[in-house]
Amino acid sequence: MFDAEKFIEEAVEELSRRIKGKAVIGISGGVDSTTAAILVHRAIGENLRCVLVDTGYMRKNEIENNEKMLTKLGLSVLVIDAKERFYEKLKGAVDPEQKRKIIGELFIRVFEEVAAKENVKFFVQGTIAPDWIESGGGLRDRIKSHHNVGGLPEKIEFEIVEPLRDLYKDEVRVIGCKLGLPPEIYERQPFPGPGLAVRILGEANPESVKIAREACAIVEEEIEKAVKNSEMSRPWQYFAVLLPCKTVGVHGDVRVYGAVVAVRAVESLDGMSAAYSKIPHDVLERISVRITNALKDEVSRVVFDITNKPPGTIEYE
Ligand code: XMP
Repeated sequence: MFDAEKFIEEAVEELSRRIKGKAVIGISGGVDSTTAAILVHRAIGENLRCVLVDTGYMRKNEIENNEKMLTKLGLSVLVIDAKERFYEKLKGAVDPEQKRKIIGELFIRVFEEVAAKENVKFFVQGTIAPDWIESGGGLRDRIKSHHNVGGLPEKIEFEIVEPLRDLYKDEVRVIGCKLGLPPEIYERQPFPGPGLAVRILGEANPESVKIAREACAIVEEEIEKAVKNSEMSRPWQYFAVLLPCKTVGVHGDVRVYGAVVAVRAVESLDGMSAAYSKIPHDVLERISVRITNALKDEVSRVVFDITNKPPGTIEYE
């Protein structure tokens, strides 16, 4: 049986022993990195600096909202606008593993620059067990390189600290709750480190980001509204994906040759396996109508993904 109190006590003790001086944490505002930040903050207090990198692949208003939320939790937050650097490095990249590697490496380089400026030797990450298992840890096959594990470059200028490395998502949520995080954080749906870049199949450029960001926001809003109205229960994860193909459509009597957006929603416990969510057709229809109206010139078709994991992973890349 997982003993959260004991885990917290031992983790804080170990972190205070191990981290001498200052540390930075790469924080996204998700449950994993925020829980890791609170644990380390308990251990070393003001010596922890939280770095929120705006990769250009975050969801609508996510950077502003997360900065406010983390500051409210008493953490010291530094936002770094690295949008242009990420877009530039990902130009022409279409292979999923190549994209993940580029993002993982650039994340580290950005943190190294902060660390060098602030004379920091320790870099904290909110890595959890599925991240390294799926990245090919132990003798396992590499399913995908999670940005914080398989996406890391070989040469790194600081020591990596991962206090949640052996935990699964459901256990991290319990720890987050015990540490006093509000439910909107410890119950938050997962969002991958590489962000919208792995929800845009093909080149993740500013134009495609605009489409994926708006479509993701609509999926989230419509599903959350339906949950509030008791039309359905909240899926474990729900989002939109921009597919790399175009289809013919029609608006009024005008031809549209636009992109296809897939709606993905799954039920899961730890992300290692998942079943697609049986979303009511009315909700799916509202999502489809809103996406094709809001993105009239860009999107001509919306499809719903009915694949479980396995065989499909939750994210498309
Ligand atoms: P997959 O797509 O492998 O995802 O079924 C399982 C869970 O992990 C999330 N995910 C990531 N989380 N960094 C993360 O922090 C990553 O690189 C990453 N890739 C996938 C995914 O959203 C799902 O919840």
